[in-house]
Amino acid sequence: MAGPNSYRPLAGAAILLVAFGVALLSGELLLATLIGALGGALATITLSSATFMSVRRTAHQAQQNGLEEMAAEVIAPLDDPILLLRAGRILAANPAARALLGPWIEGQDVRLALRHPATVERLSRSAAPAAPVEQIEVAGIGHAERKWLVTIASISGEMRLVHLRDRSAALAAERMRVDFVANASHELRTPLATVLGFIETLADDSAGSDAEIRGRFLGLMHGEAKRMQQLIEDLMSLSRIEAERFSPPREPVDLVPLIDELRTACGQILLDRRNRLVVENLGSGTVVQGDRGQLLQLLRNLLVNAVKYGRPDSDVTVRIEDDGDGAVRITVSDRGGGIAAEHLPRLTERFYRVDAGRSRAVGGTGLGLAIVKHIVTRHKGSLDIRSTVGEGTSIRISLPRPEPVQPGP
Ligand SMILES: Nc1ncnc2c1ncn2[C@@H]1O[C@H](COP(=O)(O)OP(=O)(O)OP(=O)(O)O)[C@@H](O)[C@H]1O
Ligand SMILES: [Mg+2]
Repeated sequence: MAGPNSYRPLAGAAILLVAFGVALLSGELLLATLIGALGGALATITLSSATFMSVRRTAHQAQQNGLEEMAAEVIAPLDDPILLLRAGRILAANPAARALLGPWIEGQDVRLALRHPATVERLSRSAAPAAPVEQIEVAGIGHAERKWLVTIASISGEMRLVHLRDRSAALAAERMRVDFVANASHELRTPLATVLGFIETLADDSAGSDAEIRGRFLGLMHGEAKRMQQLIEDLMSLSRIEAERFSPPREPVDLVPLIDELRTACGQILLDRRNRLVVENLGSGTVVQGDRGQLLQLLRNLLVNAVKYGRPDSDVTVRIEDDGDGAVRITVSDRGGGIAAEHLPRLTERFYRVDAGRSRAVGGTGLGLAIVKHIVTRHKGSLDIRSTVGEGTSIRISLPRPEPVQPGP
């Protein structure tokens, strides 16, 4: 029999070696699995109680060190921030977690590292046996605006694996989609309601039989119907350009004849606003690689904006020059009221208008610059909007020149 101060071989120290693996399932769920537990008899010798305790401590320490190193190795290459906790302390944090929460977090209390009450509260609850993996959506870890899906997996005892997935971009895309549908419906509903109102009035005998009223109302209905048609065409055009975004155009397009065509296409609006279109060709080659129809649409959107939001009786300039690195720069400038700096980053969002009332009054729906941006992206070009309130706006587009033809064999 083993006495109180000694341990016989069979009663001797048995130390569990624990290995565990961490797996990410299909990029969605973090699954931490206890792979195995091995027990083994350690000694055939009789140890004193004090010696046994010391051996066990050392072995336990070695086991824990091995575990932590292994955990750190497993989670290190993963892109999302991952923490391994024991009893509320961070045993291991991968580089993504250290970049997010601070390089000092390993060994720290998780409350100090995360500083996020809702997540910390969930981590401090004991895991429900039926739900070893829990997920919560939280905002504000690392940055107030960032949204995270936090997956907490209970491994064994007081060990937890915490996986943070950044949901900010996905949620922003979802919000944009919802806003887009709401905006498009709103833009269609307004002219449609106007047209329905006019139809009802014209159906009334007293108003409908008056030739002057009928003529005026039909004119207004025509304008509203044109506005709806333009909106539908712009939306279809946007989705076509988006659908083609991975197939860059290959046609060589000379900008000079294209601008002549633009002058003809915009002749009426230039005349109405008494604007002069000035072309400055700095003689550095005017051929780009592109899709002629889309480039005409891009330039027309920029020119119409310059005329609509520019000053009547002023010059609108289109300048063509070299942009280095095998690119041509086209700048469309007006001498209008300009755009305040806070609006510049949002101008290429669909339906974004600085002054919705004014834009609508001149027939705009806020899709023109979104189309421009998508065309530029498809052409692997770049777009830069510069504006000074009270002076005017310059929009620069950079487009690649055609690739040189390789000599045949
Ligand atoms: N040259 C400019 N000068 C001043 N403001 C401009 C200029 N170009 C665009 N803007 C502002 O940016 C907004 C977005 O322009 P965008 O071309 O996308 O839409 P829009 O002109 O309102 O409508 P659409 O082009 O669909 O007919 C405009 O509503 C206007 O407020
Ligand atoms: Mg426009």
